Amino acid sequence: MSSPFDVYRMEGRVAVVTGAASGIGAATAGVLAAAGASVVCADIDPAGLATTVAAVEAAGTRAIAVPTDVTRRDQVEAMIAAGVAEFGRIDAVCNIAGAMFPGRIEDLDDDTIDRGIGLNLKGVLYGTQAAIRAMKDQGSGAIVNVSSGAIDLPYAGIGVYAFTKAAVAMLSMTAALEAGEYGIRVNAIAPGMTVTPFTTWRLNKPDGTIDQDAYDEFMEYSKGMSPLGIVGEAMDQALLIHYLLSDASKYATGQIFRVNGGQTWAW
Ligand SMILES: NC(=O)c1ccc[n+]([C@@H]2O[C@H](COP(=O)([O-])OP(=O)(O)OC[C@H]3O[C@@H](n4cnc5c(N)ncnc54)[C@H](O)[C@@H]3O)[C@@H](O)[C@H]2O)c1
Repeated sequence: MSSPFDVYRMEGRVAVVTGAASGIGAATAGVLAAAGASVVCADIDPAGLATTVAAVEAAGTRAIAVPTDVTRRDQVEAMIAAGVAEFGRIDAVCNIAGAMFPGRIEDLDDDTIDRGIGLNLKGVLYGTQAAIRAMKDQGSGAIVNVSSGAIDLPYAGIGVYAFTKAAVAMLSMTAALEAGEYGIRVNAIAPGMTVTPFTTWRLNKPDGTIDQDAYDEFMEYSKGMSPLGIVGEAMDQALLIHYLLSDASKYATGQIFRVNGGQTWAW
């Protein structure tokens, strides 16, 4: 018996997830696997990748780990090729890998600028290009790129991060316009504060263990950013990404989707 929820199922689909070793990427790999997709897990962190692949396989679907530095065009193309070689096709690509590059505009040096653009912008661009090329002949596919709530309001000290994420939003809208004729949808998400190592690393003590007092204080502060009084979790973003990669969102393309707890200001 068919159900309106069948459009969320992804059996027979092949999804590529970058940043799959941690946080939003790991949660996304898990959700896509639970929806039935085979998952190509890519990251520069081999230990984290192994954990994610084991979790995906525990969900009963197939997964491969493809160590990938998304700042390298050749490695991104090899990642897509590995997925095609293993599973025969690519239906969904989410370009999630990214990092914070702190620094005030007046102080930014070329190394920080180049690393920020290399990871947060070129990494997503290479992934989008390789995805479109892999999908265009089959006449279908979906791409989700991860931007940030940082595109919605300026915040001092995160200039490279914010302007690379703003570029990801426009890159995604432009790619959607161009790839629509191939039946490929491209969307971006702009997450609000989401608890992952991306947000909690600064709360670690020098020995790497969590400073519980600092963590608790940060969580209380973060809850105050949302009118709901709660903090976002990686799963909140992963479920949105799943929607955007599944046929449930067949009419959605060229958009920036925000799951951010209604947050209207940064910390
Ligand atoms: N957590 C948040 O509050 C938040 C908010 C807005 C946007 N984002 C964005 O979400 C994305 C995922 O962040 P997260 O919170 O899951 O962080 P995370 O640190 O948990 O995960 C990021 C992953 O990217 C990987 N990575 C880093 N450099 C890489 C490279 N060169 N090649 C391949 N992989 C690489 C890391 O190894 C890590 O597994 C990022 O693009 C981040 O900017 C996060």
